[in-house]
Parts: sequence; C-alpha cells; structure tokens
Amino acid sequence: MTLRVLSVASEAFPLVKTGGLADVVGALPDALAPHGVATTTLIPGYPALAPAMKGAKVVHRWPDLMGTPARLLGLRLGAHPLLVLDAPALFARAGGLYGHDDDWRRFAALGLAAADIAAGAAPKLRFDLLHAHDWQAAMAPAYLRFGRPEATVPSVMTVHNIAFQGHFGAEVFAQLGLPAGAYALDGVEYYGGVGFLKGGLEAADAITTVSPTYAAEIREGRFGMGLEGLIENRRGSVHGIVNGIDPAVWNPATDSALATRYTPRALGRRSANRRAIERAFGLETLAGDRGGPIFTVISRLTWQKGMDVLAECLDELVALGGRLALLGSGDAHLEAAFLAAADRHPGRIGVRIGYDEPLSHLLQGGADAILIPSRFEPCGLTQLYGLAYGCVPVVARTGGLADTVIDANEAAIAAGVATGFQHGETGYHTLAHAIRRAIDAYARPELWSAIQRNGMRADFSWAESGRRYADLYKNLTGAA
Ligand code: ADP
Ligand code: GLC
Repeated sequence: MTLRVLSVASEAFPLVKTGGLADVVGALPDALAPHGVATTTLIPGYPALAPAMKGAKVVHRWPDLMGTPARLLGLRLGAHPLLVLDAPALFARAGGLYGHDDDWRRFAALGLAAADIAAGAAPKLRFDLLHAHDWQAAMAPAYLRFGRPEATVPSVMTVHNIAFQGHFGAEVFAQLGLPAGAYALDGVEYYGGVGFLKGGLEAADAITTVSPTYAAEIREGRFGMGLEGLIENRRGSVHGIVNGIDPAVWNPATDSALATRYTPRALGRRSANRRAIERAFGLETLAGDRGGPIFTVISRLTWQKGMDVLAECLDELVALGGRLALLGSGDAHLEAAFLAAADRHPGRIGVRIGYDEPLSHLLQGGADAILIPSRFEPCGLTQLYGLAYGCVPVVARTGGLADTVIDANEAAIAAGVATGFQHGETGYHTLAHAIRRAIDAYARPELWSAIQRNGMRADFSWAESGRRYADLYKNLTGAA
C-alpha cells in the first residue's frame, strides 16, 4: 500500500532556494518513492513561481485564508505532485522570502492551508500523514491538532535549524483563529508570545532533526536556543536522520556546471576546474606543479557559520601558502571583512559576494578543500557535496559535520578511512590548526588523494535516510 504524505515547506529546489532546506525538501519525494511513499509538496506562491503558476489547475479555494482569498494550484516538482498556495496578498511581493512585517500571517496561512488539506478539505486530495519543515511550516501540525481535533492524520515536525523559531508577540494569537486553550504551555504559547516552531514541536506526533549529533545537542541550552526543555521532555519522540544528497544534481561525473567532469579514478581532471576557479576569482597560478591548496567557502556569511572567525584566520591561511575562493552573501560586516582580505591579498584571496548555483558546483569540482567552521550545524550539505566532489571538507566537530566527516587523525589514516579534517569548538586557534593540518596533508600527494577518494566513495545517498523516514511514517500511521 502506498502511503500518501503531504510535505509542507517554505522552499523547494529547484523552484525556490535560500539554503539547504530547499535541497532537502526537493530531494525527499525521490528519496521516499522507493519505500512506498508518495510525496506531495506544498509551498507558497512566490513571484519566482509566477510563470509556472500561469494556467495551472485550481484544486481548492479559500474565500478567506487569514484575511485574504487564496487558491491551491496543482503543479509538478520533477516527477512528483506539487501544490502551490496562491495568495497574492501574502506571497506575490518583492523582497526576500522572509523578513516581512507580517511573516506571522504569511506562514500561519501556509500552516492553516496545509492542515485543512491534510484534514480532507479538498475531497480529491487525500493524505495519510502531514510532514512539516521548519518554523515557516510549523503551524501546520499546530492547526491540525488544536484547530481540527476531529482529524486523525498524524504529523511529523522536522527541525532543520532550531535557531529560527518564528517567535511573535502575544497579540498575534487572537488572529490565528485557534481555540483559546491553544495559548498554553503545551500549545503555541512561548515565553509570553506565540512560538510557531514551539507549537509545531508540541503538536507533532514525532519530531525529527537532520543529524543524530544535532538531535542530542539541542537537548542542551547551548544549542536548543530556548527549546531545549521541550526537546528533552519529548526525547522519546525525537529522531536524528541525516540528510542525503541528490545524485541527479550533485555528481561530478555528470555535472554540466563543471569545466571538466571526472570520477575518483581520474582526479587529475579536476585541474581544469581549478584553472577555471583561478580565472573566475583572479587567483594567481602558483609556480611548481602544485603550489598550496585552494580553499573554498560556499556559505551564508553569518555567525552560525563561524565566518567572523574565518575572516580573522585569513592572513595566516595565506602565510601558510593557501589561497581562498569564497562565494557567499550575508551580514554586511562579514561581506566587508572578506572583501578587505581580498584587497590585502590580491591573487591569493578572491571573493564573490552573491548567490550563484552553477559557480557553487564549479568550486566543489575544482577547489582542493572546503572550509565549514560552523558554531552549530544541524546537518550541513556543502561538506557532503565536497566529499562527493573530492573537495576535502575542513569542518567544526558539531552537528551533522561531526556525523559525516572522518577526521584524518593517525588512526583513521592508518585504517584508510579518513575523509577530511575536524576541529573543536570554533575559535581562532582551533580553526588555524585545522587549516595548517590540511595544508600539511596537501603537501603529501598520496595521502591527499587517498582522502579525496575515501570521501568520493562514501555513501551519502538518500537510500538509508529515505528508509528511516518511511519507517517512521509507517509506525505513525499504523502501516508498519
Ligand atoms: P544552510 O542551509 O544552513 O545555509 P547547508 O549547508 O545545509 O547550510 O545548505 C546550503 C546550501 O546553499 C547548499 O546547497 C549550498 O551549496 C548553497 N549555497 C550557500 N551559499 C551559496 C551561494 N552564495 N551561492 C550558491 N549556493 C550557495
Ligand atoms: C538548515 C541547516 C543546515 C541543514 C539544512 C538542511 O539550513 O542550517 O545545517 O543542512 O537546514 O537540513
């Protein structure tokens, strides 16, 4: 029997993406299909979707959804069904996906629409389970439990990043249309206001997060960001399931964004991609066969990602013989710090401020190592792409980074299993030490290519994690 799942999120690759959430939501339908799960994805109708929405079939209407008329459109996400919430007053506007004054209303509407559909409001759309991703979708399980108590559809709440919670003022509650009892300790009330993620975590039948280490970390104050008590109380229902990567999008043997494609057996071919990076980032080609490694960063430039610490380490990175090609955007002071480092070190540090999907592929396919010094990292995808592309990850030992990279310590090297470099809690000395270790290893070509090949041969497909989600769904629906 096929299990029908409604997956609700605020982004889905390739249609709308600001980060790893989109990659995961976009990959899940394919990952789940082999396990008897048919996934329908629901996302808001942002302007980027307008061309696809034109002429799409209307499958449901709300005369009044959080104060505005809305329609549900039926489209496709690859080979799978996609539902788009067309509520122009809420979503058809300029600016970013998030950060609008009425975000509470926009994403309450997404949650309410999802709960309605899961509860059977559109007779032709039937679902066995509701799966909500992050705070923007978290009101879906909350509306289902507190607003549609007659519905029996179970729900799963996945935390991709507990730092983003959707925390609003208490005055919002009256407009959510929930029964008064939902403003409670085991409801959506959160530190005297309304917490969207908090409500979703209380209401969902099961909670997942995107790596086993992060699932343990968020039970503690340092990582739980105020929700550690709730996570600890619900620990029996919390599962850490690591993300996979989509081989149709991330495979160096078939990637059309690369100057040259390659396999683990022909790593020498990466040098053409390396040259392309040198040109694109104005890096000098170093004398001799090899020169030092080219490090890359492909990231949001934020405190979470440890980018302030990295900016401080750059003079040392260059002094040790390294170069850096950085692609990212984010906090203005961090963008400025990296641009200043590029000015100080022409030919050694190249910085591209912005978002560029094809360039991110080229960087993975030609740089020698990728730096990810995150203070916390629920899963992280760029280290997985790095592993698949022979771009050796140098990462902080936290969250999913701890779970997916095998540090090249003496034991791991002797056992032939090392895939990258890990450092302790992000700080100047821990990060500088990891950079030094990577540069030293790079000077030993046989060791370096062994580390690259180990990473490329590791299995980061969705096979195992897809099965784990499917097993969880089956347990919750009684289909197991
Ligand atoms: P997060 O979701 O916390 O930002 P992840 O590592 O899970 O971190 O996912 C980040 C995703 O966004 C990856 O697919 C990465 O390649 C992509 N990405 C981040 N910054 C950029 C950028 N400036 N240009 C292109 N892709 C980027
Ligand atoms: C979040 C996390 C990141 C994770 C991604 C996908 O953006 O910050 O670590 O990989 O979600 O789950």
